[in-house]
This record gives sequence, structure tokens and C-alpha cells, in this order.
Amino acid sequence: MRYGNIVGWGKYVPPKVITNKDLEKTIDTSDEWIYTRTGIRERHIVSDGETNSEMSIAASRDALEMAGVSARDLGLIIVATSSPDYLTPPISSQVQHGLGAKDVGAFTLVNGCTGFVYGLATAQQFIASGACDNVLIVGSELLSRFVDWTDRESCVLFGDGAGAVVVQVSDQPSGVLSYVLGSDGSGAEHLILPGGGTNAPPTHETLDQGLQYLKMNGRQIFKFATRVLGKALKQAIQKANLTTDDIDLFIPHQANARIIEVAARHVNLPREKVFVNIERYGNTSAASIPIALCEAFELGRAKVGDTLAFVAFGAGLTWASAVVKIGERVEPIAIEKSKLSRWLSLSNITRSSTSGITKYAAQVLSPLIVFGQKLVNFFRG
Ligand code: ACO
Repeated sequence: MRYGNIVGWGKYVPPKVITNKDLEKTIDTSDEWIYTRTGIRERHIVSDGETNSEMSIAASRDALEMAGVSARDLGLIIVATSSPDYLTPPISSQVQHGLGAKDVGAFTLVNGCTGFVYGLATAQQFIASGACDNVLIVGSELLSRFVDWTDRESCVLFGDGAGAVVVQVSDQPSGVLSYVLGSDGSGAEHLILPGGGTNAPPTHETLDQGLQYLKMNGRQIFKFATRVLGKALKQAIQKANLTTDDIDLFIPHQANARIIEVAARHVNLPREKVFVNIERYGNTSAASIPIALCEAFELGRAKVGDTLAFVAFGAGLTWASAVVKIGERVEPIAIEKSKLSRWLSLSNITRSSTSGITKYAAQVLSPLIVFGQKLVNFFRG
């Protein structure tokens, strides 16, 4: 039996942070309103010139280093995003080229916030069928450029960032043990970017009407999310022939802390088994679960041997859940690789940690770290 074990993970968030207090200066809102309604205090937002493909590549490099897998040894690259650099070419080819993954197949999975879990399920199938031994899955979003920063209902919610995992064939029962994918297009208008596609190509009129910005019916999305999350989680756990007690950590899509609370209640989850980091990242859509996964490992909340459950909802409307076992590595990581990955994960923590000193360090050191990583990658070829 061929299983797809997660053997490497990485994340990247832009150094710039926008707090609720910052937003108080530009829109009619308050830190208290945002925090009590959503659980968000701050979010990372790209600066001018930063791109989604760069974030994807940075997160992927960390995941590959940790996995000890060369980009050229990948069988497939899946990039889940709804905010690519361009409508065409696909961002997945930019990531493939940027990583030096010569001739490796790549595709972009446009599925809103559920994209990463859909990608994981897809990777599992490619590995189980024998088509690939190593698959890279990236969840990355740069929604800040699709957000109307004068729309207080939506702009307070979103943040930018990327997370990536490497899934590798293993004969030990591990990886995606079960998954549930769902879609209900009847709710499409509740979260939509109306302009820019072939239905409403950009014109002066569409721009004047603001159709290039995300439109969201928050209440409808809230109702939908609380209805599907618990159900999808239960289904995935049952499909894996497990019970809630068998799950070590639940990592839900980080859209709203209140939605997560309702879903957790629905399946009787104790608080300490639910990973929530929305306070410091906001909703990073397809990137939220892989970023949360990385942070759970960094904080020791998740570890090798654990059984995790992911659940997400989003545009479409869609939902997705998966039960994933983090198995032992079949081949131990090479010493020089593990040294490098320790260095890289240290730099990763510096870039993404939001505690006072490290946040300052992140701003000051970030360009140096990025330069250092580029240097390492250059010498690595
Ligand atoms: N600051 C202050 N007041 C605000 C703000 C704000 N940022 N935004 C809205 N309000 C006001 C509203 O105008 C409304 O005022 P009114 O009563 O005078 O009309 C009042 O606050 C209450 O609004 P509600 O819509 O009832 O607020 P609610 O408690 O539903 O919270 C929210 C709104 C946070 C958007 C919530 O509905 C939500 O989180 N929905 C889900 C959104 C989501 O997850 N979107 C993404 C999903 S898909 C993906 O992840 C990409």
C-alpha cells in the first residue's frame, strides 16, 4: 500500500503587519469590534513589489529543505490560490521555475479557502496510484490586493501569506487517512470577485463600480460555515474509522474564531485540542491551514506520530476536511540537510513570529534573511 506522508513543511508571511489599531485610523471600526467578532488583532500584508509567487517559493523552499527533497525530484507541484500573480500563465509554473524544478508537472488549484485541503486529497491520489513519489502542495494568498480597504466588513478579515508541505510515498499507514470534499454553487454570490474574469472583463465601468474587489455577505457565510464545518469534520473522522478522541489536534481554516468555536462545540472538542492562530494572521484563505500546521509544529502542539484533522470552508461555496497522520520518515534526513533546515526554520520563526522583539527583528532582519536564503539556494544550484 502506498501512503502519502507529510515529511516537510514551511511557511512565509510578509514582514509588514497591520494591526486593528492601524485600521482604526483609516475606517470606522475599533480593535474591540474586530477582536470580539472575529478573534483577529493583526494581519501580515505584502508591501509594494512583493508577489504571491515569491511567497509561494519561499514557503516551498523551507518545506523542501525540511523534507530533504530536491525540487528536481518532485513528481508534481500543486499551488492552491485564488490570488495568483496573473490569470495566465498559471502561478504553479512560476513556482516550478522559481524552485528549479526542471520539467516537473505543475498546476494551479483555484478553490478559495478549501484549496489546500483539496490539494492534499489530490496529492494523496497521485501517490496512492503510483504516479508520483513526492508532491509539493502550496497554499498561498495575496488577497490584500483584491480587498476594498474602505469596506469595513471585509477588509478587517484578510491577511497575506503562504504555507507548503511535501508529501512523500511511504509504506507505513500515514498521510491522508480520509477526506471529504463538498461544493454548493447555489451560494456563489455570497463571496465573489465579480470583475476581472471573462464575465466582466476590466473596463472603466467595472472599475468605477468597484467590481475588482471581493464582495462578501458575512452573515450568510457565517451561517454556511457553522452548518458545514462540524458535519464535514465528523464525516472525515468516521471515514478514517476513528473517533474524535483519536485526533490529537484539530487545525481548522482560520476565518473567524467564533466560527471555529461553534464548529468545535458541534463535535464536542475540548479547546486545547483546537489550534487557533487567527489573532496574528487574519484569514489567509488557502494558506491558513498550512501556516497553522507549521506553527503548530514550531510550538510543539503537533508532532511526528500525531493524528490531525483539517477542516475548511470558503468561496464556491465549498468545504473540505481531512484526517492526516504524521508518520515517521522512511529515510532519515541527511545531516547537512538537517543543519540547513534548522537554520531555515530559525529564520522562518524570525520572519513570522509576532512577539515584540522578534517582530522588530523580523522587520530589520527580513531583507538580510531573504538575501541569505537566496545565497544558500544559489550555491545549492
Ligand atoms: N467595524 C465596526 N462595525 C462593523 C464592521 C467593522 N469592521 N463591520 C461591520 N460592522 C457593523 C455592521 O455594519 C453592522 O452594523 P448595523 O447593525 O448598524 O448594520 C454591525 O457591525 C453588525 O454587523 P453583523 O454583520 O451582524 O456582524 P457579525 O457579528 O455577523 O460579524 C463578520 C460580521 C465578522 C463579517 C461575520 O459575519 C463573519 O465573520 N462572517 C464570515 C466571514 C468569512 O469567514 N469570510 C470569509 C469566508 S471564505 C474565506 O475564508 C476566503
